[in-house]
Amino acid sequence: MMNSEKEETIQIYPGWTEFYNIEVSDKLDIFSKKNRLFDIIFAQQFDRAFLDFMCELANQIRLLAKTKLGARVLSHLLSHKRAMLYFVQPSTRTFISFLNACHILGMKASEIRGTTTSSEVKGESAEDTIRTFASYVDLIVVRHPEAGFAEKTAWVLNQTERPVSVINGGSGPDQHPTQALLDIYTLERSFEHIGGLDGKKIAMVGDLKRGRTVRSLSYLMRNYKDITLYFVSPEIFKMRDDIKNFLRKHDIKFYETDDFASVMPIVDAIYMTRIQKEYSTTPSKETDIYSTFHFRKKNLSNVQSHCIIMHPLPRRYEIEVNVDTDPRAVYWRQERNGMWIRAALIAYLFGVDDEIADEFN
Ligand code: CP
Repeated sequence: MMNSEKEETIQIYPGWTEFYNIEVSDKLDIFSKKNRLFDIIFAQQFDRAFLDFMCELANQIRLLAKTKLGARVLSHLLSHKRAMLYFVQPSTRTFISFLNACHILGMKASEIRGTTTSSEVKGESAEDTIRTFASYVDLIVVRHPEAGFAEKTAWVLNQTERPVSVINGGSGPDQHPTQALLDIYTLERSFEHIGGLDGKKIAMVGDLKRGRTVRSLSYLMRNYKDITLYFVSPEIFKMRDDIKNFLRKHDIKFYETDDFASVMPIVDAIYMTRIQKEYSTTPSKETDIYSTFHFRKKNLSNVQSHCIIMHPLPRRYEIEVNVDTDPRAVYWRQERNGMWIRAALIAYLFGVDDEIADEFN
C-alpha cells in the first residue's frame, strides 16, 4: 500500500534565526547588489525615487504594449531569461499578472502551484526545492502561506554560487510588496490630475490585522508628503502595533475607528479588504460583525466625486457588485495595473529599463 502522508524534512540553516530577528531596516543591504535591488522581499525596500521610477517605467511598458511594433520590442528584451513561479498558496491575480508580465518581456515561465505536485511529496524541503529552481531559472517568484519564507529563500540563495532574484508574491499574513507597488501605481494614476498621492487621505477598511496588502501599503506611505491614514475596522481586526509604531516613527498621521460612515466623506481613497478567513479559527463569528464594513451602492453618494474605491481582490461581500460601474470604482483597473508594474519590476531587475526608456527618446 502506498503511504500518502507527506513527510516533511526540516533543515536547520545556521544563522537564519539570528538573521530573521534583525530589524528589517538593518538587513535590507543583503537583498541588493551593485546599488540595485536584487531580491524584492519587503515594501520597506522601496524609496520615493524607486516608486516614481517604477510608475514611469510601467507607463512606458503600457504604452509600448499597445502597438504590435512596441510589443515586439518588449518581447525581445528578456527572451534569453527564464522565471519560476512557485505559488503554493492559492492566487489568481498575482500569479496570472506575473505570468503575463513575463510574457510581455519575452521571458519563459514555469510554474508549481502546490506542494503535492513537486518532490516535496517525497519529503524534499521547501528550501531545497527553491534551490533546485535556481539551477534552471533566472528569477523565482514565491507565494507562500508562511511569513518569512520568501525572505529565507532569498537569504539561502544569496549564499550559493548561483543566486537568482527572488520576488515575494505574498508571504502569509505578513507582506505583499508587489501588491503595494500596484496600489501606489493605481493611486498615482488616479490622482494624476489632482497633484498625485502627496497630501491625500486614505481609508483602509476591514481585516487590517491579517491583511498583508494594507500592511505593505502602509509602509510605503512614508515616501509621500502629508498623508493621513484612517484605519477602519472592528476591534478584533485592528491594525497591528508594528505598523502603527512604524507610522509614529515616521510622523505619518493615522486614526483608528469603527465608524466607517464618518470617514467616507472625508477621504480621497477607500481601500476595502475581505476577511482573511484562511487564517481564522472562528470564521462564522467574524462574518457577522463584518457587514458594517461593507461598501454599498448607496454609500457612493457619501463619498467625494474624486474619491476612488480600491480593493486588492478577491472580494467576497464587502463591495456590492452594483458599485462596479461607478467611475470611482477602480479595482478592476487596479488588478490590470499589477501586470504593468510587475513587468516594470522584472525589467528593472534584469537591467533592461534603459532599453525601454530609449524607445521614448
Ligand atoms: N491581490 C491578490 O494578491 O490576489 P491573488 O491572491 O488572487 O493573487
